[in-house]
Amino acid sequence: MNIEQLRADTPAVAQLIHFNNAGAALMPQPVIATMTRHIQLEATLGGYEAAGQQAAELENVYSAIGRLINARPDEIAVIENATRAWDMAFYSLPLKTGDVVLTSTTEYAGNYIPYLQLKHKRGIEIRIIPNDEQGQVSLSALKDMLEDDRVALISLPVIATNGGPVQPVEQIGALARAAGVLFLLDACQGVGQMPIDVKKIGCHMLAATSRKYLRGPRGMGFLYVESALCQNLEPAFLDLHAASLLTADAYRIRADARRFENWECNVAAKLGLGAAVEYALAQGIEPMWQRIQQLAGYLRGQLAQIPGITPCDLGLQQSGIVTFTHQDSSAEQVQQWLAGQEKRINVSTSTVRSTLLDMQNRGLLEVSRASVHAYNTEAEIDTMIAALRRLPNA
Ligand SMILES: Cc1ncc(COP(=O)(O)O)c(C=O)c1O
Repeated sequence: MNIEQLRADTPAVAQLIHFNNAGAALMPQPVIATMTRHIQLEATLGGYEAAGQQAAELENVYSAIGRLINARPDEIAVIENATRAWDMAFYSLPLKTGDVVLTSTTEYAGNYIPYLQLKHKRGIEIRIIPNDEQGQVSLSALKDMLEDDRVALISLPVIATNGGPVQPVEQIGALARAAGVLFLLDACQGVGQMPIDVKKIGCHMLAATSRKYLRGPRGMGFLYVESALCQNLEPAFLDLHAASLLTADAYRIRADARRFENWECNVAAKLGLGAAVEYALAQGIEPMWQRIQQLAGYLRGQLAQIPGITPCDLGLQQSGIVTFTHQDSSAEQVQQWLAGQEKRINVSTSTVRSTLLDMQNRGLLEVSRASVHAYNTEAEIDTMIAALRRLPNA
């Protein structure tokens, strides 16, 4: 990888050390340029006219995402964030009383709350797939759970918001397909960080966001729905973009995955997402994944040597999201201390609010989260480690 070029494309690295890529990564220059160009165009031409002029580029957003995850452009819906994208898939499923949803301990609260809502409203059942000794979803337990023909859905994140294991999604997908069960993958922290191939994984639906490892703008995301399923899935919400009004009494839903979109959107951000995907593809996802893992491994090793710090990630395969606790300082104090360094260091705090089951299982209330991207360097990690060694009370 050309790290110098990656950093040259990321001007903010001169001012700060950004280890909050799992929150929102720094946008590279081509993304910023694409978005500012479009805002200028809207200011000079008018919003609708600007979008009309960029029609080909807007179409390319779908094909770029398709190339990124090995899907067809007509299987992609561009939606304002991963949560709404996920909701559009989940709430469109015809889940009924007695249907079982299987999820992982690492599930994001934003997804778990909708399970609970449908538990209360429709009587679905939520079952948690136990972890194996390494801390990831136990494939043998999942296989057993799939024996129950009431299981209608497997739904979990490939990488949790608070780090932990990269789930064995290809094996999970194979088990889902063999059992004839739908698989909804939350790839919010995976897309842009690691290779995600929907055909290899075998998921039927996948939700992702733009601003995290993809390095796109905030307020953007996308949904993949396999075409065979898409035709049979009536979106929970419809508008005049998702469907056409034919008569005073009839409408027709469009055939492609854009049936899950709504009409009005942030066009500059949509183009920015397309530019981010093109940028990631040009860098190469596999080399970025290798570098992210290498940097994260280095960071975990360094953290483990600081007295009072405990690295927290579990799993056979781990990601760029590195979490730890400090025996004398809260995660908030760690975050503030690092932010106050001469060269600001951004880390974040992940609390029980976002991954209740996992944190409770491990007796944790919060962790510090340092999430590295390919544009980060070992020297930046060394700077953070030195700052952590100087942490008051350490
Ligand atoms: C695993 C996971 N799923 C879903 C989301 C929600 O994404 P968004 O904020 O784009 O809706 C997040 C955000 O942190 C996440 O980490």
